[in-house]
Amino acid sequence: MKLNVNRHRIAVRINWKYIAIGLAVLPFAAVFVAWLGFFNIGAASGHWRITELFLQLAMRSAVRTYAIGIEEPEAFDRGAILPAAGHFARGCATCHGAPGEPRPAMVKAMLPRPPRLERAVHAWDDAQLFRIVKRGIRFTGMPAWPTQMRDDEVWGMVAFLRRLPDLDPEEYRNLAYGPAKRSRASGFNGSFDAALAGCARCHGMDGLGRSAFVPVIAGQHRAYFVESLRAYAAGERASGIMELAATEADRKLWQRLAEYYASLPATEDEQSAADAERIARGRRIAQYGVPRRDIPACLGCHGRPDRNPVYPQLDGQKRPYLENQLRLFAEGERGGTDYAHLMTEFASRLERKEIESLAAYFASRQVQRGKAE
Ligand code: HEC
Ligand code: HEC
Ligand code: HEC
Repeated sequence: MKLNVNRHRIAVRINWKYIAIGLAVLPFAAVFVAWLGFFNIGAASGHWRITELFLQLAMRSAVRTYAIGIEEPEAFDRGAILPAAGHFARGCATCHGAPGEPRPAMVKAMLPRPPRLERAVHAWDDAQLFRIVKRGIRFTGMPAWPTQMRDDEVWGMVAFLRRLPDLDPEEYRNLAYGPAKRSRASGFNGSFDAALAGCARCHGMDGLGRSAFVPVIAGQHRAYFVESLRAYAAGERASGIMELAATEADRKLWQRLAEYYASLPATEDEQSAADAERIARGRRIAQYGVPRRDIPACLGCHGRPDRNPVYPQLDGQKRPYLENQLRLFAEGERGGTDYAHLMTEFASRLERKEIESLAAYFASRQVQRGKAE
């Protein structure tokens, strides 16, 4: 009896030993097999059905889990959809296709194949789409958003993706390419006209911006304009949208683009009377600052183009754009030229109401034509 038990114990011990050895050797065996080159990493043959199901399960579960706790903005302004559509045309449609634009043949040979998003977006809620677009998907070719610094652009893209299934080719082209309706195929040939047409997709040929979130660049100071393009391209001013646009245009053309837009008249919008009080409040801060909170008079820098050509022109700029930039400065997410620190020093001390008043005030100011440098 005693002997039996002992024998049994020995048997169990030996089993464990084998398992332990097996486990220890397994990674080496796997590396060895990989080194021999037995894993088929070719994309052409596709995955086994079971592998594919497993990978899909892992991807979908991970997105679901990581999307928990993402806070959605209350409502996203529809004006953000237009620059998102413009970005989609150059940064996403190249893989995913778009209404009226098939996926390029090369992309169809990718594994996994980038899906047509008109059909795929239904499967995800907003937070999950946000997560995918912001962080990308590993091992698939699905890239992360070019900057991780700010979320508003990504939410704009989510808003656009929600609209995508309802867009016919005509509506899509109008959003993404503007009245010129150039399609992806027309591409870039490195000429000034082609670069300008690229900018005009969002900013318009008149430089007034085709939506509330695309700034007016007509009448902007040239030095600020060129320095901003440099900052975008270098990632020193965070914007996934402008980073792509700035790097697509040949650097040698930046100065000419700046000259073209600087020479155009900025908006002459009539402000509604309802804004009068807010504008007056903004004017007071712009003229005198808020000395007790160490907030300087904005016009000390922004009212005098003779002061430094890298201080941007704010007159006639769009209200939602100005508010958004001030918020980005306040949260330390704006970046910019070598002078951007002049803004970050005090922006976090501005109250929300003050930001709204200042934006209303500068939007209402008419550009002094001929003074834009
Ligand atoms: C280089 C090619 C490529 C580019 C560029 C690209 N994607 Fe993707 N994307 C993929 C691939 C591949 C997948 C599939 C991943 C998978 O199935 O695991 C994917 C998946 C997605 C999904 C999830 C869809 C689903 O149900 O599988 C969304 C949403 C998405 N992409 C949005 C975008 C957006 C928005 C952009 C532009 C900002 C973009 N993608 C740019 C390759 C790309
Ligand atoms: C897909 C849309 C899109 C395209 C294309 C585009 N822009 Fe922009 N542009 C924007 C948006 C949106 C912003 C605001 C980004 C931010 O928040 O910093 C911006 C900002 C700018 C600014 C900074 C304005 C300021 O007041 O600080 C300049 C200068 C500019 N763009 C020039 C250009 C030029 C030149 C081109 C063409 C080479 C171009 N953009 C193409 C959407 C676009
Ligand atoms: C000491 C000079 C200085 C003062 C004072 C100043 N600014 Fe600025 N501001 C700048 C500079 C320089 C930039 C350009 C930042 C960059 O992109 O590098 C800027 C940029 C901005 C922008 C972004 C413009 C755009 O087109 O993207 C806004 C909005 C702005 N300032 C608002 C204000 C307001 C409102 C005040 C007053 C409360 C103010 N500024 C006071 C120097 C100043």
